[in-house]
Amino acid sequence: MSQIGFYRDENDDLNVQGIKISSLAEKYGTPLFIYDSGLMRESYNIFLDTIKEVKGNIHYAVKANDALSIISYFAQLGCGADIVSIGEFQKCVAAGMPPQKIIFSGVGKDNSEIEFALKNNVLQFNIESEEELNDIYKIASRLKLTANICLRVNPDIAPKTHKKISTGEKETKFGIDFQSVDSIYKKLHQLKYINPVGLGVHIGSQIFDFDFFYRAYLNLKKLADDLKSSGYNVPTLDLGGGIGINYNKSLKPDFSNYKEVVLDLFENTDYQLSFEPGRSLIAEAGVLITKVIRNKKTKDKHFIIVDAAMNNLIRPTLYDAYHRIETVKKTSKPEIIADIVGPICETGDFLALDRRINKVNNNDLLAIRTTGAYSSVMKSNYNARKDAIEVMIYKHKDFQIKKNESIKDIISKEKLIVFD
Ligand SMILES: Cc1ncc(COP(=O)(O)O)c(C=O)c1O
Repeated sequence: MSQIGFYRDENDDLNVQGIKISSLAEKYGTPLFIYDSGLMRESYNIFLDTIKEVKGNIHYAVKANDALSIISYFAQLGCGADIVSIGEFQKCVAAGMPPQKIIFSGVGKDNSEIEFALKNNVLQFNIESEEELNDIYKIASRLKLTANICLRVNPDIAPKTHKKISTGEKETKFGIDFQSVDSIYKKLHQLKYINPVGLGVHIGSQIFDFDFFYRAYLNLKKLADDLKSSGYNVPTLDLGGGIGINYNKSLKPDFSNYKEVVLDLFENTDYQLSFEPGRSLIAEAGVLITKVIRNKKTKDKHFIIVDAAMNNLIRPTLYDAYHRIETVKKTSKPEIIADIVGPICETGDFLALDRRINKVNNNDLLAIRTTGAYSSVMKSNYNARKDAIEVMIYKHKDFQIKKNESIKDIISKEKLIVFD
């Protein structure tokens, strides 16, 4: 009997939807990302259930994982998208996501991106400055096309998360400062081709103390209520993403607590809400499988050198992120303390430091857990390394969702000019 997610079979080997992970590694090679559609669907349904008592839409934050097949899967489940570049917009459209369900966020949309999105019927722009509004206004007037505008508010809240993913304080580049929102929102109403649709916040990612959400949403609601009582139309509020997920254990995010926050503030209001979850929909649904190249022992350290590296998964070195790492096949070997590192020539190329793990031999497989979000999407070809292979599991079958990249492909992206 298979179950949802990655689980151990009767021999204690790692499986997904009845398929042995080791057989997938043999078939496709490593490093290999594997995504379980069952877990994606489950997380999406739990999120839907969380917001069922308010008027709300889910817009998957594509930045978490922009694989076409993953966007397409969420689109088919009924989800919209939140994007931050015209490249993501085009990926969404290529994956079958209707433009009318796409919210265009981001602090630095350039004029060509704004024009493209407008001509292609994007749902709305979440804008982050008066300067951006002026640019959109000029483009919309020239094209004679109406732009739906939501103001992203900077609530000046520091949500106690890693500083590189904290976006709600006034010192960050994000959002419009609280004091200016009222006047800019009123200005929207005076501009032809500009349709004010509401206000939004996104205070950061990996947030566990939901009091921060409560405060940010409460401030947003007060602003909106005040504008409404002065006669302005504020039909929608965008509550962003950011729900924290557990990298230590396979535990669902604390959706029930989140639900309480949302209901407390928005039950029985007539705001149409948008939610932009990324990590909480996809992180747990991914694993990165890597093969041990060799063990290297020095007087001070044991290094397990594997074939995945920071070009496949940069989170440990970029965000000091922790990912569980376990052997794919059962082992009764004794535990050691080791650094698990990749082949890239950087001291920062590690997947785990001083990690307690069972001893491994060359060619053993390791599973790096919870790598569905902000993992493959941040890949690079650093050290001329190829992309990892990516596979999605659907109805007990495996589907390769990215083409194999060869060194030839990497070379073919360049132009060779020989300067004599
Ligand atoms: C505007 C916006 N919305 C949504 C998200 C998704 O956040 P998370 O993946 O933490 O849910 C992000 C992430 O940075 C974001 O910048």
